[in-house]
Amino acid sequence: MIPHIYIDRLRHHINEPVVLKGWLYNKRSSGKLQFLQVRDGTGIVQAVVSRADVGDEIFGRAEKTVQETSIIVTGTVREDKRSPLGVELHASNVEIVHLPTQPFPIAPKEHGTAFLMEQRHLWLRSSKQVAVLRVRAEIVRQIRNYFDERGFVLMDAPIFTPSACEGTTNLFQVDYFGEPAYLTQSGQLYGEAGAMALGRIYTFGPTFRAEKSKTRRHLTEFWMVEPEVAYLELDGDMDLAEDFLVNIVQGVLKTRRDELTILERDLSKLERVQKPFPRIRYEEALEILSKKGKTVPFGEDFGADEETAISEEFDRPVMIHRYPAAIKAFYMKHDPKDPRLALAVDVIAPEGFGEIIGGAQREDDLAVLEQRIAEHKLPREAFEWYLDLRRYGSVPHAGFGLGLERTVQWICGLHHVRETIPFPRMMGKIEP
Ligand code: 4AD
Ligand code: MG
Repeated sequence: MIPHIYIDRLRHHINEPVVLKGWLYNKRSSGKLQFLQVRDGTGIVQAVVSRADVGDEIFGRAEKTVQETSIIVTGTVREDKRSPLGVELHASNVEIVHLPTQPFPIAPKEHGTAFLMEQRHLWLRSSKQVAVLRVRAEIVRQIRNYFDERGFVLMDAPIFTPSACEGTTNLFQVDYFGEPAYLTQSGQLYGEAGAMALGRIYTFGPTFRAEKSKTRRHLTEFWMVEPEVAYLELDGDMDLAEDFLVNIVQGVLKTRRDELTILERDLSKLERVQKPFPRIRYEEALEILSKKGKTVPFGEDFGADEETAISEEFDRPVMIHRYPAAIKAFYMKHDPKDPRLALAVDVIAPEGFGEIIGGAQREDDLAVLEQRIAEHKLPREAFEWYLDLRRYGSVPHAGFGLGLERTVQWICGLHHVRETIPFPRMMGKIEP
């Protein structure tokens, strides 16, 4: 039996017979020779079919193949210094598993993004999209490893929720047996309950926001990882976010260099993601902006333009802390030294990729939190369970949320967040 070998493992089988199972990506021919570019999800390799070696029947089958024909190719692996993989295959047999009867809609040429998004289920097969999905999966693995290896417990938060966590303007409402419920915006409030039970937890799952803005950073369905830690304050939260990001970026650089190269990512920019990250107060960020001629009055939030302008000043992620409390969520603890400010931190990615992390120390005092819920006009009944966390053994605690897709966007260097998730959901986009 000749073994089935995946393309990324071929270099370990030089001069051995192997079976490849994949699809035809592209081909060229020169009379007696055909050069089939075969992909199998792990890479692309050239299979050389020679009429002299295989005879007319097999050569004829190879000639019949069109783009995305599923094929099984048997052959011998040969070293080939010119190919990016370092190997090619000298075919002894070609079998067609399925021959498409229509041309593949995505030819190997330039297409507009609108068209490609409609063909997303097929576009996923192209080299760049495969590379992005492989980097995404690796980032997820690195994230899980980071927390698992450090004693954090994975805890799943519910998707159906009775209340808002991150403001009421972008909630998706659903009918829950005749009662309104909402798709979760964040697992955080449940993560806080988990931290009081387990000490250190992280939630990791899909979150939903009815974002009515069509930007290159907003999805309506995105994945968020949210660590939450009992007995942690803002400084420790920033230390955690910094150590976490350095580990993720350097880990992915090690294991997914080939994919990042396919994506033409400038790796030197990622190599610079090392400790320490600059930590600046919101008010210092205002000064940076005003020096660059973009004056923002105290009390206003930063948009994409401001985030980009601030990130230009640094060669690595920058942490902005102590935002005005009025523009932040109800659960954030206010700074005892200046109650106008929240003990919040946002991490802004370099190169204009924008906010990737939002976090904070949480308000742990029952009376203060009750007052905040009233000020934010949130329905008190829905938060009774959350207030219980402050009634029974309340402790200082903190955490943050990292948006997975924005992180993939930054690490891969992609213009738009829609290419970071297999089937993006955005305003006006739910198909395929
Ligand atoms: O800053 P946010 O809203 O923070 C929270 O939800 C907190 N409850 C997290 C916590 O402290 N546990 O969102 C966190 C991150 C953002 O920094 C961003 O990376 C991502 O989630 N994010 C989005 N990503 C894609 N599309 C959207 N519409 C996003 N909204 C937030
Ligand atoms: Mg935020």
